[in-house]
Amino acid sequence: MCGIVGYTGFQDAYDIVINGLRRLEYRGYDSAGIVLEDSANKFEVEKTKGKVDDLVNISKELKGRANIGMGHTRWATHGVPSDRNSHPHLSNNGKIAIVHNGIIENYDTIKTMLTEKGFTFQSETDTEVLVNLIQYFMDLNPEIDFPTAVRYALNEVYGAYAITVLHEDYPGVLVVGRLGSPLAIGIGDKEYFIASDASPFVEFTKEAIYLEEGHMATISLEQGVDIRTINDNSKIEPEIQKLKLSLEQIEKGGYEHFMLKEIFEQPKSVHDTMRGRLLVDEGVIKMAGIWDHVERFKNANRIIIIACGTSWHAGLIGEYLIEEYARIPVEVEYASEFRYRNPIITDKDVVIAISQSGETADTMAALKLAKEKGAFIYGICNVVDSSIARITDAGSYTHAGPEIGVASTKAFTAQLTILTLIAFKLGKHNGTLGNAEFMSLIAELDAIPKRIEEVLSSTHEQIQQISKDFVETTNFLYLGRGYNYPAALEGALKLKEISYIHAEGYPAAEMKHGPIALIDENMPIVIIAPKKGHYDKIVSNVQEIKARKGKIIAVVNKGDRQVSEMADYVIEIPETSECFSPIVASVPLQLLAYYIAVYRGANVDQPRNLAKSVTVE
Ligand code: F6R
Repeated sequence: MCGIVGYTGFQDAYDIVINGLRRLEYRGYDSAGIVLEDSANKFEVEKTKGKVDDLVNISKELKGRANIGMGHTRWATHGVPSDRNSHPHLSNNGKIAIVHNGIIENYDTIKTMLTEKGFTFQSETDTEVLVNLIQYFMDLNPEIDFPTAVRYALNEVYGAYAITVLHEDYPGVLVVGRLGSPLAIGIGDKEYFIASDASPFVEFTKEAIYLEEGHMATISLEQGVDIRTINDNSKIEPEIQKLKLSLEQIEKGGYEHFMLKEIFEQPKSVHDTMRGRLLVDEGVIKMAGIWDHVERFKNANRIIIIACGTSWHAGLIGEYLIEEYARIPVEVEYASEFRYRNPIITDKDVVIAISQSGETADTMAALKLAKEKGAFIYGICNVVDSSIARITDAGSYTHAGPEIGVASTKAFTAQLTILTLIAFKLGKHNGTLGNAEFMSLIAELDAIPKRIEEVLSSTHEQIQQISKDFVETTNFLYLGRGYNYPAALEGALKLKEISYIHAEGYPAAEMKHGPIALIDENMPIVIIAPKKGHYDKIVSNVQEIKARKGKIIAVVNKGDRQVSEMADYVIEIPETSECFSPIVASVPLQLLAYYIAVYRGANVDQPRNLAKSVTVE
């Protein structure tokens, strides 16, 4: 979603802001803008619908003009993507500039009040309302200063926001605030950076403050960083963190797209997820987050997994894993539905939230509800110190490294790896997974990175060829059974997200209850059919498809005969225990989605309308 970059220091603010916005492109956006405070303390603003390149085309002359400024990539919520709705927005008197990520829910009421007071609006955005509210407070109380007016205004709004604000009469001062949307402050030597995450400033400093919920900060070279609570202006001591992020991690490293890089990183990312946790020689899984609360899990009425999108698919596989090995009842819910359906939650429930970004607003809201009701909250996040990671009682990071491609790939397989470790650990503790089976499963899990490597090298070229045949296709079905039913859902989601081809995933047996009506010679069906896991039943499903002339792309184990003989395309993956097959089978499905999208000329890393971290409900 929207990205924010701000800078004050000795470097060219234009370069820092533009390069920073490029780093945040992965978040998804439809317009971009910049404001600089020039040497006469006047604002220079450029903004446009489109990409950062379009912004550069209209703003090049601002280069070298200022050492302080801020920029924004907008993901439209209130008002269509347009030049007018792009950020920054200026107050009516032209003295205050704001960039904003999030939604001001009561903007309409405030807009009515301001309109009655004579304010006018150029855009349809909630953000322009906020910047005028700041002006309103300054006009009303000439004795208050700019940061105070920002604080007054923030106390009047509800919703979610991360903001950065400049005032022409307060040269060199950046005021930032956060509630619900992330904001990091990079601390350099005689310079400060502001950004939605640390990627825009990682090459300049390794020190950052992650602004906490409900906090604001006034930043200037003279005064440093002054952090206050928004509600009562209490002073907060900044907690400076050391960044582990490196520049290489957020660059493409020779790959054409981040998504391809991230698909190929999976042998390493899955290994990193297990590092220090899976100790095969000692026959143990070390997970402090689980172990410290193991009785809570063991005695739970049930585990409720809440997540969205790809993370929800990981949750569905988590249900299969935890119920099979730990024999604890599991429910999996879309966070957005869970929150609004008055769910029954007690203090005997354990809620697991899965989120790559750790910032997803729906998941966050659902978690807050579960917490209020006394449930124990466990987080599985990729982004360290993210909002969800911070509000959970305990958790496990996936350690997959930064995922920049909007379509989730390596975070998904890392989530599956964590869920597998949790299921095995709880199973061992509960006595529902015997020692011999535990030992054999963990040895197999330890070798999964190798299996992924094999899949990547044996299928990469073949999938490029297969993909060429489906560039013009408009529909796809994905089928799987058991553990591979969620893998089918995930395969379909990947395809639709980046290629814009309509795709649906189904449990293979459900086909006969409806989707079979769609099958004819024009319908490609991806079917995941590993040896272990209802293979005979899948063979029957494939026969049903064949009889209706559907085009079968089968993902099978090496040496498979029955399904392969009927399939039009055969993609072979190594044989594993059923519980590991979604990890291995997902890899060719990611490649298939990727190459079909590439051959269709789609913007794979930044698909239209999508955002990497969905910070609005
Ligand atoms: C799919 C995708 C989205 C996310 C979803 C949840 O490729 O990226 O469906 O999985 O928005 O995001 P997180 O995991 O950050 O909570």
